[in-house]
Amino acid sequence: MANIPEHVLQQYERLKDELNYNNHRYYVLDDPSIPDIEYDRQMRLLQTLEDEYPSLITADSPSQRVGGEALVAFEQVRHDVAMLSLENAFSSEELESFERKISDRLNYSLSQDAPLIDYVCEPKLDGVAVSLLYQSGVLVRGATRGDGTVGEDITNNVRTIKSIPLKLHGDNIPELLEVRGEIYLPHAGFDALNAAAVAAGEKTFVNPRNAAAGSLRQLDSKITAGRPLEMCAYSVGQFQSDAAPETHFQMLESLASWGFKINEHVERVSGIAACEEYYSRMAQRRDSLNYDIDGIVYKVDVLKLQQRLGFVAKAPRWAIARKFPAQEEITRLLDVEFQVGRTGAVTPVARLEPVFVGGVTVSNATLHNADEIERLGICIGDSVIIRRAGDVIPQIAKVVLERRPADAQEIVFPEHCPVCQSPVKRTEGEAVARCSGGLFCGAQIKQAIKHFASRKAMDIDGLGDKLVDLLVDQEIIFSVADLYEIKAEQLAGLERMAEKSAANLVAAIESSKQTSLAKFLYSLGIREVGETTGQTLANSFGSIEAVILASTEQLLEVEEIGPVVAKHIVNFFRNPDNLSIIQALRDAGVTWPDVDQRAQASQPLKGQTWVLTGSLDIMSRAEAKDRLQALGAKVSGSVSAKTSQVVAGPGAGSKLSKAESLQVPVMDEAQFVEFLATQD
Ligand code: IVH
Repeated sequence: MANIPEHVLQQYERLKDELNYNNHRYYVLDDPSIPDIEYDRQMRLLQTLEDEYPSLITADSPSQRVGGEALVAFEQVRHDVAMLSLENAFSSEELESFERKISDRLNYSLSQDAPLIDYVCEPKLDGVAVSLLYQSGVLVRGATRGDGTVGEDITNNVRTIKSIPLKLHGDNIPELLEVRGEIYLPHAGFDALNAAAVAAGEKTFVNPRNAAAGSLRQLDSKITAGRPLEMCAYSVGQFQSDAAPETHFQMLESLASWGFKINEHVERVSGIAACEEYYSRMAQRRDSLNYDIDGIVYKVDVLKLQQRLGFVAKAPRWAIARKFPAQEEITRLLDVEFQVGRTGAVTPVARLEPVFVGGVTVSNATLHNADEIERLGICIGDSVIIRRAGDVIPQIAKVVLERRPADAQEIVFPEHCPVCQSPVKRTEGEAVARCSGGLFCGAQIKQAIKHFASRKAMDIDGLGDKLVDLLVDQEIIFSVADLYEIKAEQLAGLERMAEKSAANLVAAIESSKQTSLAKFLYSLGIREVGETTGQTLANSFGSIEAVILASTEQLLEVEEIGPVVAKHIVNFFRNPDNLSIIQALRDAGVTWPDVDQRAQASQPLKGQTWVLTGSLDIMSRAEAKDRLQALGAKVSGSVSAKTSQVVAGPGAGSKLSKAESLQVPVMDEAQFVEFLATQD
């Protein structure tokens, strides 16, 4: 380094420290200290220095995270301390027997007043195990577990993972430290990766674990660098230090202080009953986590006790994994049906041999569209992997080709609508195929009427899906406007329709005539116009005439309305059939007050997003929603970092815990009612 000026050396060291610090704040603590743009500036400055003085570059330079030259093959790595696996427990009984064996070996009493054994409870992350070696605080090697004794050297790849420190910080840095942990792909990263694969017509990953494993197996670390992998540390292999911790929990605390990410839900508890309680709590939270876990790991906390307990074959006696129900299962595709939706979209639906997965029995799954069928290469009769993780709908993740039966049948996408026989058409560049029958198609008419009558739309009580099917099939009604012509006598003759319920329905239809502009707009079933957009249109234009006359440009001036939605709105009102239905509805007496644009000007909750969860006792959920929307708030069904406020009633579950973990403010119903009173 002889020819590098001293001030450059100093600047370089300072920059590296600062970047490593900011990296830790961002990727480990989720608490960025500076704006991204400032981080980028520092990074560019570092790279400029390194370009000018390449001899500066060290293994712990943040610039090394972008990936380097591709390898020809991975080298082998011998683990000096074997990487063990864990015994599994599938029930409370098996967990209790685990504790009994431990206490027997330690000559402990499990009687009532005896001291309890302390355990650390950790989510069992569903990713790939990794070993990271640090010499004097600098990352020198990353390796896979392999068979536990010999793994592969993936140093170049692990360096690209931002939550892995390249250099340890803090006090008492050990001379030698081998950290073990799990590399995994959070759901958002997995979804983005698969969406990109679908867009490119490539094969998708079955689950985040496979995607993480595939990402680490890349010989070209630049590919790994592009994958949003994370790492949580959960134990230590080799360790040479003057200061030795006494418990596993202390060791985790030290790891955190040196810059590693430790799972946020790790807890120390006393006794196996508390372990059980932790398990139930985490089982409830599992769906709201943004990464996959497949169970809980319990570890005896005191390291001396761990030593006394030792190992059997390939697993420690002092730890056990209590598994959750599987989120993936194998089943058979029995048939594919094609459903026609409100907008004519023809959707293939897989009929499956019922299978219990992710806590529910699944017998149907959407196949989305023709591209998806092609991409999966799926045939009727195939064995398929069904995945249901989080609270998402079940997906067919993969076909098990090895099990394809000889009589497997190709899936033929229909050329004609299965309901009205009109040609099915697919617009260039669109994935969705649609029935071209429009309102001649019974399926589309039925869906349009069901949507019109639904609770959030015109709210016609008693007009259920079965009844709509019947009314259309019997040719009593042909459009939503015909609903207002129905006479009680026409209904009374129908299957399972008593005189009383016929009269009730006619009354419900009558009372639905008083509505709001927002609901009316939503009821029309304009493509991409949901409840919120209905409300936005009503607020921005004030009257149906103004919405009908709005040009694309005017629509685009409204925040929240993009070009696609604007196009659907304009197209809808250009269609004379739609205009005559609107006219017929108004002639029948459907009416609403025009929106007072002056009142709109002072919407105190404009720009905010609220979430209602749990049950509400004082007011109905629909009422709560109406009130919030009238105040200008958007009401959403899911909690994110952007949520302004959550109202949680009794029985609130995953949304509440998500709000808590994201530190979104939460109020109960009483507080909510009080808040509304202040807004009157
Ligand atoms: S401890 C000797 N803790 O589960 C103890 N393992 O069969 C070794 N895993 O592939 C593991 N989360 O990668 C431990 N909090 C956790 C874990 C965990 C996930 C994985 C580990 C290994 C498997 C154990």
